[in-house]
Amino acid sequence: MSAVEDREREIMLELVRVTETASLLAARCMGMGDTELVDEAAVDGMRGMLSLVNINGTVVIGEGEKDRAPMLYNGERVGTCLTKDEVDIAVDPVEGTRLVANGLPNAISVIVVAGRQSLMPVPTFYMRKLAVGPQARDYIDINAPTRENLRVVAAAMGKKVKDLTVVILNRPRHEELIREVREAGARIKLIQDGDVSAAISTALPDTGVDLLMGIGGAPEAVLSAAALKCLGGEIQTQMWVRDADDEARAMAAGFERLSQVFCSEDLAKGNNIVFCATGITDGDMLKGVRFHGQRAETDSIVMRARTGTVRRIRTTHDLSKKTLRSFKAGQEMPL
Ligand code: FBP
Repeated sequence: MSAVEDREREIMLELVRVTETASLLAARCMGMGDTELVDEAAVDGMRGMLSLVNINGTVVIGEGEKDRAPMLYNGERVGTCLTKDEVDIAVDPVEGTRLVANGLPNAISVIVVAGRQSLMPVPTFYMRKLAVGPQARDYIDINAPTRENLRVVAAAMGKKVKDLTVVILNRPRHEELIREVREAGARIKLIQDGDVSAAISTALPDTGVDLLMGIGGAPEAVLSAAALKCLGGEIQTQMWVRDADDEARAMAAGFERLSQVFCSEDLAKGNNIVFCATGITDGDMLKGVRFHGQRAETDSIVMRARTGTVRRIRTTHDLSKKTLRSFKAGQEMPL
């Protein structure tokens, strides 16, 4: 067993504690209608717990640039062991901030730890995405017509097109895509936010989700790719620009050929990848946080690309004893 494999094993439970903390704190703000409050609470908890984890990490997908984000900014060093091999960190303390603020389903907290320079440091752009599970992974082509992708995915899954469920973000930009899917005869599940959870759900049994299609955030595509690498699914993506300004920014960031297709292996390279998520609100993949007086329950998934092991962890937290690390306060706090 190599040192890298050893380390991945060691940190898996630590990472669950990181996303559990962010989820518990975000869940306390559910339904308050305040997206900033949700995000601040989760970022503070996630950053606080990360400062206790035995890694030498650099945030490559985080809360944005340093001047905009006080914590978990791109380039920030995290972890307790700055002498160990460096690793890339990608986070989304709350994937679906508006979902939590409004008490809607499918919000999760996510972290990915991967070998240095294996996660693509994408700027906050949009990407076209097409994600599927293991059975269909070799047949999709983001440049093919929607009808054709649905046909090959259905065939690969031994289903009829009319049996497929396609998840699409409910946005005006998807009007044409929605029309095409309807014309092809597949079923559609429109979601308000949270396409990471939807992408991962395509590769998990019993979620009832077969494909994710449409345009969403580029950082979210990297998180999805990392998870799909662990599950044997696939995501294909292409940069998508809204206007000339976006296009100029994409060029400046080195994305000169907008038609270029980035697949899972481009977004999250190699096998040194650990993905972890905890549910904040109820979803297809994870249950949301439950509070029962002195106890709270969380539902997490943690997985490794190297071995394909998928662990489901349901945790009961005793709130009369438990404290959570606040980075801002520099100390442990009750929930
Ligand atoms: P947050 O993590 O910022 O809450 O993003 C939620 C999300 O719905 C993502 O899942 C998705 O990729 C992106 O926003 C879509 O962006 P937009 O809301 O601008 O269409």
